[in-house]
Amino acid sequence: MVQLRSKLTSSPEQRSIPELDGGAPLIGHLLDFQRDPVAMLSRGRRQLGELFQFRLGPRPFVLFSGPEAHDAYFSAPEDQLNAKAVYQFTVPIFGRGVAYDVAPQIMAEQLGFLYPALREAAMQRFARIMFEEVSLFADSLGEEGEFDLPAAMNELTVNIASRCLIGQEVRDQVDSGFADAYHDLQKGINTLGFFFPRLPTPAHRSRDRARRQVADIFGQVMAARRRSGTHHDDFMRSLMDASYSDGRALSDEEVTGILLTVLFAGQHTSAVLATWTGLELMRTPDYVERVRDESHAIYGESGLMSLEGLKQQVTIEHAVRECERLHPPLIMLIRKVLQPMPYGDYVVPAGTLAMVSPAVAHRLPELFADPDRFNPDRFAPPAREDKQHHYSLIGFGGGAHRCMGKHFAETQIQAIWTVLLDRFDFSLATGFPSPNYGSWVTGPQTPCRVRYRRRSQESAFR
Ligand code: HEM
Repeated sequence: MVQLRSKLTSSPEQRSIPELDGGAPLIGHLLDFQRDPVAMLSRGRRQLGELFQFRLGPRPFVLFSGPEAHDAYFSAPEDQLNAKAVYQFTVPIFGRGVAYDVAPQIMAEQLGFLYPALREAAMQRFARIMFEEVSLFADSLGEEGEFDLPAAMNELTVNIASRCLIGQEVRDQVDSGFADAYHDLQKGINTLGFFFPRLPTPAHRSRDRARRQVADIFGQVMAARRRSGTHHDDFMRSLMDASYSDGRALSDEEVTGILLTVLFAGQHTSAVLATWTGLELMRTPDYVERVRDESHAIYGESGLMSLEGLKQQVTIEHAVRECERLHPPLIMLIRKVLQPMPYGDYVVPAGTLAMVSPAVAHRLPELFADPDRFNPDRFAPPAREDKQHHYSLIGFGGGAHRCMGKHFAETQIQAIWTVLLDRFDFSLATGFPSPNYGSWVTGPQTPCRVRYRRRSQESAFR
């Protein structure tokens, strides 16, 4: 691993940050950005290097790209590069008093309550649940047919997340209200909401209604648990049992808000990465055979999926990592610069929006050989391309806000494709899609349908 030398010191000869050409009066680079943000940002990186500026409407942005710039970005303190100021659009969804509505140290304390529920023992149980949920889905399919891949991955990950993370009772209500309410809440994340989260549009009104419905569902589950005294190993219980460092217990409203924060951070992103993983595997049949051989070798005797088994499945692990690289669900992360930030010969002024882009970073040819090619073996020894530089692979973020659910998400996607490839042969029914940059989480353009045929070969699982 190459050690990074800090470029955070400002030199006496300060230079102005290079500006991307092609900006128009008033709108800046907005049109280019809307058309294809990754192409625009990659062009900037190629022409101008690790720091450059551009404008979206009146707002000035600076992209930090490359391992050293990422390191500076992720190491900056919250009072310099601030997430809360950018993620205000989440407050009507997550609720008051949690996440980006509170001071960063309180948000960290709130998320910290959840770490015990993601420990090894819990993950062992989750691996079984993941297997059961994917098996249920596989059993619901016929001998052969076609389905909408993003919709299927969405359904599966809602079922898995609600059962593992929120609580079995919420999983039981997925079809009777929860999925619809959650879907309406998701629609509350839109471009308008990013700038004006409280504007009384129809989408925002149904978002607020859905928020109340979800709070009711979670509230009833919490009340029933208190009445019956039943014990559950999940996030809801961790939060109901937790108290802040000043001794205060969490209110039901706070528990609901933190659960929604985690669900929003983790479910759709997982569904999208699972979709891309399936798509890439479907056009690489030789690699699929290696995945199948590996699962037969690992599970052939026991016939049972386990966390230990999933850890040994390096072939599928590398495929998921390669899809994180090629198709990161979050193509950019943003912070507001609250205090001027020196970097090399530059100072990024306060008021700027600072960005890193996993989608740009992951295709830098100096970090990844033949970067547009799907090649999971780049992560195997001896190449181990992701280990050559700290922060070359940043699909799960970094620093204080790094993803807390990385291991859960990777395990889940591995489990999904291990089971599905064991049971079915797949092919693309609608061709390989391009990315849809119109939504906050970058999935494929639709339609995105796949054909399946049940396999006659012996399964690795009982
Ligand atoms: C493939 C799936 C996932 C991807 C690509 C992903 C990606 C990310 C990224 C890039 C960040 C950093 C955001 C930023 O710096 O602004 C993040 C944060 C976060 N993720 Fe994930 N995530 C995934 C799954 C999950 C899951 C399953 C969970 C929960 C179990 C989760 C919980 C969170 C939380 C709570 C944060 C916020 C941390 C903070 O701000 O302190 N994520 N995720």
